[in-house]
Amino acid sequence: MDDNGTSSYTVGFLTTGESTVEQQHAQAFLESLATVEAVAFDAVESKNVIDEYDLLWWHRDTPVSEETISADALSALTSYVEEGGGLYLGLYALDAVDSLGIDPHPPDQIESTYVPNHTFGQQPAGFLIKARYEESTVFDGFSALRVNTQHSRKQSTPRLAYHNRVPQNGDVLASCVVGGEDRPAENSIIAWSPGRGRVLGVGQHLVFSELSEPYEDTVRTLVTGLVSHLGDSEEEAFSGRPKTSDELTEMRVELEADTHQPTYHFTPPANWMNDPNGIVEYDGIYHLFYQYNPAGPYHGSIHWGHATSDDLVHWEDRPVALAPDLDGPDKDGCWSGCTVLDDGQPTVVYTGGSGGDQTPCLARATDDSLDEWEKHPGNPVIEDIPEELGILSNDEWNAEFRDHDVWQEDGTWYHLIGTGLEDGGGAAILYTSDTLTEWELVGPLLVGDRHEDGPLWECPELLDFGESQVLQVSNYDKVVYFVGTFDGTSFDRRADGTLDHGNYYAAQSIPHGEGQYLSWGWIREDRDGAAQWDAGWSGVMSLPRILSLDEADTLRVRPTPEIEALRGHHQSLPKQTLSSGDSVCPETSGSALEIQVTFELGDAEAFELVVGESPDGAERTPIRYSCEDELVVDRSASSESTAPSSDPQCIPSISADDGLVTLHVFVDGSVVELFANERESLSSRIYPTREDSTGVSLNAIGGDIAIHTVDIWELDSAFSPDDGKLASQQASPTNSGMD
Ligand code: FRU
Repeated sequence: MDDNGTSSYTVGFLTTGESTVEQQHAQAFLESLATVEAVAFDAVESKNVIDEYDLLWWHRDTPVSEETISADALSALTSYVEEGGGLYLGLYALDAVDSLGIDPHPPDQIESTYVPNHTFGQQPAGFLIKARYEESTVFDGFSALRVNTQHSRKQSTPRLAYHNRVPQNGDVLASCVVGGEDRPAENSIIAWSPGRGRVLGVGQHLVFSELSEPYEDTVRTLVTGLVSHLGDSEEEAFSGRPKTSDELTEMRVELEADTHQPTYHFTPPANWMNDPNGIVEYDGIYHLFYQYNPAGPYHGSIHWGHATSDDLVHWEDRPVALAPDLDGPDKDGCWSGCTVLDDGQPTVVYTGGSGGDQTPCLARATDDSLDEWEKHPGNPVIEDIPEELGILSNDEWNAEFRDHDVWQEDGTWYHLIGTGLEDGGGAAILYTSDTLTEWELVGPLLVGDRHEDGPLWECPELLDFGESQVLQVSNYDKVVYFVGTFDGTSFDRRADGTLDHGNYYAAQSIPHGEGQYLSWGWIREDRDGAAQWDAGWSGVMSLPRILSLDEADTLRVRPTPEIEALRGHHQSLPKQTLSSGDSVCPETSGSALEIQVTFELGDAEAFELVVGESPDGAERTPIRYSCEDELVVDRSASSESTAPSSDPQCIPSISADDGLVTLHVFVDGSVVELFANERESLSSRIYPTREDSTGVSLNAIGGDIAIHTVDIWELDSAFSPDDGKLASQQASPTNSGMD
């Protein structure tokens, strides 16, 4: 681009028949920025006709299917782009990505008449820019992620967006805002880079008739950015949706400057993550799949992300393993499930979402890396939901019926599915089969009490501890468990408990030696959606934890010792007594720490271990153990921002062992994952705003406290900051051997 800005570009303005009023306005607007010539589609018999243009602009406020655009014209456009041209697709033109061979996934939200109204009447509307693309030429001139481009309108305009579907090849540059409210799930600006070319699609909120101040200015800024990006063949094109292992890792590295981003807990490479799925150790490699939305940091269009590890500490990003099929029973999402080995072949059972239906589906690995999966042609494998059981339904779902735990015993497959019953509460439904594809209903394995145990159970799993079994479920709030015995058809419940008292959900476990399981859970964000959008990522996986069952029918939970491989600088404090009001501040501080403290409360009122503390104490998070045997994470001063929750979280009773309490705390960016007496756990999220909120202190309140041991380690990153490669890809990780 020269000093004249976009005016040096020659734009071919594509038309079919007579231009609509909206198209006339669009053309006139472009003419104020660049040299524009109308190009009739009919005249585009070959690429030669359009070769002379720096970019082509196709803006339609009427459906493309009304008129036929010749196959010659379409293929001329396709080769124009592939050989380095730029193409703009506005409103209905976005729907042509499929016929142009740009993307087999056209947008799924198409409305011909749309007025961007908000609950409180007509409101301005515009775009919600993805933080990752904030600096790109397209958004040059904007200094915020939220930009209004259109006033409330009396007249409707078409709206096209990717809503439940994501473009297969393109990446989402922006969603939208209406009336000041984020609508992250309406993906409105998409970039593709077919061949050597570049394509930008804008499905809504960029209309040219009825343009008035101040929106005329923002429209001018945006159109200038779009024209500059499309017209400048020297400029680097967007790489499309990051798909390869390296591209995903590259996104992860871009987030490194974010102090809330954990460095040794697994997170999505960017965008959204929820439940752990399909965890399996296969050929000596741990495979962690997870609910992943490649479109942005919000729940929607769920795929199965994939990462591998050979040491449970360092993870390598792998390409997405499962994606919704356009017309499949999983078209709206590949939801949670598990992996089993069917005659040695890794096979996943997951929930497909489609319209109001949730149905069990199957896919089989076609290679040993578990990168490639083939969906069972007969999906779904259970078609008829057992309505006779009184399965919960609502306006959105015909039946709440999802998530899978499958195992084999004596040649029979057992299959648990989570649900809720109208006459009861959350329930786990049991099926059996010889084949994984034809299932027979046994009935509810266990039905909970709606008020005590939650109305709906998600992610059920049955853990086998020999004499006893544990049914673990997520009840919309927490992961809870029931201890009892399973006899093949029913479960005799005798005790229950809560696995984690914080933001921990959808746990999934695999057997790990005699009487033990390795278990992971999703540590949810605890800040508002706008803050998650701005960060560009959402969701953290817990550290791998070891679960065992004790004589008191309590699940004991502790971090797996392999994590010790990350330990770096170490400080220990001598055994000492803290008098009331005393405060000890170890020199070691940071936002990637492991802290282990053993103390005896004696007659004191409370002991505090404070993390995330700023030198002036303005931001701090005390973890407070009181004489009532209660452990509280006090988040009232964790952050100076109002986006995060400041609610306290608590373990009601941690059962001190002979008066001794051991707190084992992992601080990692915005994560505080804590274990008490190798029994209870609480996963919390804090979001300090200050870079110096990294201090640690120990405080005695209302009496003397005997401090037995204090150990603090700085923990290394699971990712190498130097060249963007995961640490495990550079050198084989040192094996801790600390078991
Ligand atoms: C639990 C859950 C599951 C579902 C998945 C969808 O967090 O709601 O029940 O399968 O997430 O992402």
